[in-house]
Amino acid sequence: MADTLTITDNRTGKQFELPITDGTIRAVDLRQIKTAADDPGLMTYDPAFMNTACCRSRITFIDGDKGILEYRGYPIEQLAERSTYLETAYLVLFGELPTAAQLDTWQRDIIVHTMLHENIKKLMEGFQYDAHPMAVFLSMVGAFSSFYPDAKQIFDEQSRRKQIHRLIAKVPTIAAYAYRHSIGRPYNQPDNDLSFTGNFLNMLFRMTELKYTVNPVLERALDVLFILHVDHEQNCSTSAMRNIGSSHVDPYSAMAGAAAALYGPLHGGANEAVLRMLNEIGHVNNVPGFIKRVKAGEGRLMGFGHRIYKSYDPRAKIIKRTADQVFEVTGRNPLLDIAIELERIALQDDYFVTRKLYPNVDFYSGLIYQAMGFPVTMFPVLFAIPRTAGWIAQWEEMLLDPEQKIARPRQIYIGPCKRDYVALDKRK
Ligand code: CMC
Repeated sequence: MADTLTITDNRTGKQFELPITDGTIRAVDLRQIKTAADDPGLMTYDPAFMNTACCRSRITFIDGDKGILEYRGYPIEQLAERSTYLETAYLVLFGELPTAAQLDTWQRDIIVHTMLHENIKKLMEGFQYDAHPMAVFLSMVGAFSSFYPDAKQIFDEQSRRKQIHRLIAKVPTIAAYAYRHSIGRPYNQPDNDLSFTGNFLNMLFRMTELKYTVNPVLERALDVLFILHVDHEQNCSTSAMRNIGSSHVDPYSAMAGAAAALYGPLHGGANEAVLRMLNEIGHVNNVPGFIKRVKAGEGRLMGFGHRIYKSYDPRAKIIKRTADQVFEVTGRNPLLDIAIELERIALQDDYFVTRKLYPNVDFYSGLIYQAMGFPVTMFPVLFAIPRTAGWIAQWEEMLLDPEQKIARPRQIYIGPCKRDYVALDKRK
């Protein structure tokens, strides 16, 4: 069996044989299919990239029908059970699990970069007290570009390492400061004796005590949530990171764009939208009426559905288990009953079953975050912190891929044909 595709162009009767590699034909191979010498050649039309691979990647594998997610070949279930966020970030960035010595060095490299430049704090002061923390977050990541001009050396490996350490280490500090700013409390300095998530909780919630006592269950739960959010191959924000990075701008500027993409309610803003939806529903008795409205096209069941997963999102399964552990410490989130009832009804309903709509990562994560004391506006920021590792791993892979160039999709022009300018007094 030849790994080729034979195409007959019925406009000309000509036949073409295109190679198939990894179940894919190259879009540029279609350019030879023309009706005349000046015809630019056949293109594919694929709004929202429903069926177009834009890169070859070694980072994350997803089988959406079987509900499989692997980072560098390791199943997400095993990483969530046995790894830590920082170790998983190393794996995703560098391709292998670290040795004990490598992990030690990596953790030290991160710890020494947790503090923010004092001028970043001044920038933060300029925001309104009620500024959305995600708006603050993406602005600060962009501002880093001006603080670290050495980041422009994107083809210098040492420089890239430095920016990677800075980004992974500083995003929790920005997030915590954005939160403290929004509630009018003084910023807490990082405490480098604590774990990555322990320190994050310290910067968020420490009051007057000299040393913050971290609850180990919440610390581990947050670490697991971070592991689950590290990467998800070519999603909207990661594509934005690669697209912007393909112009060879510094990683901070590219990541500000990626964070902006994550802010949207169809992407990282979905967990915030889930909580708002659950509050709006208000009571389990109102669930059937809400489902009816969703089926009538009056809004979506937020936290359900996914472009890739057409079965239960494996991350949602892990989160559901984590929720039980968190609620044992914090008490049960009263919105949980509404979420469980929504899931129960939706999983039996023909509308959702035929469209293969299942709970995604955002359906239960918000309930945990809320129980841990986070306001809903912090939810997308909690997604952005761990996704930083994925964004920069994908950015670096794109930069070092000799097949990549500046991203530049084509279009089908459907506007007016050429026409002459009309003077103002002659316009109708
Ligand atoms: N509630 C109700 N109907 C839905 C939903 C939903 N959550 N999601 C999809 N549908 C319907 C949609 O109306 C369409 O129906 P029809 O064929 O009758 O027109 C069909 O299912 C296919 O939907 P689509 O919009 O073509 O699917 P998509 O792949 O473009 O969208 C999605 C994927 C995640 C944007 C969408 O499922 C959605 O809006 N979900 C709610 C938002 C959400 O939870 N987002 C988080 C995604 S996971 C985290 C992340 O990756 O950021």
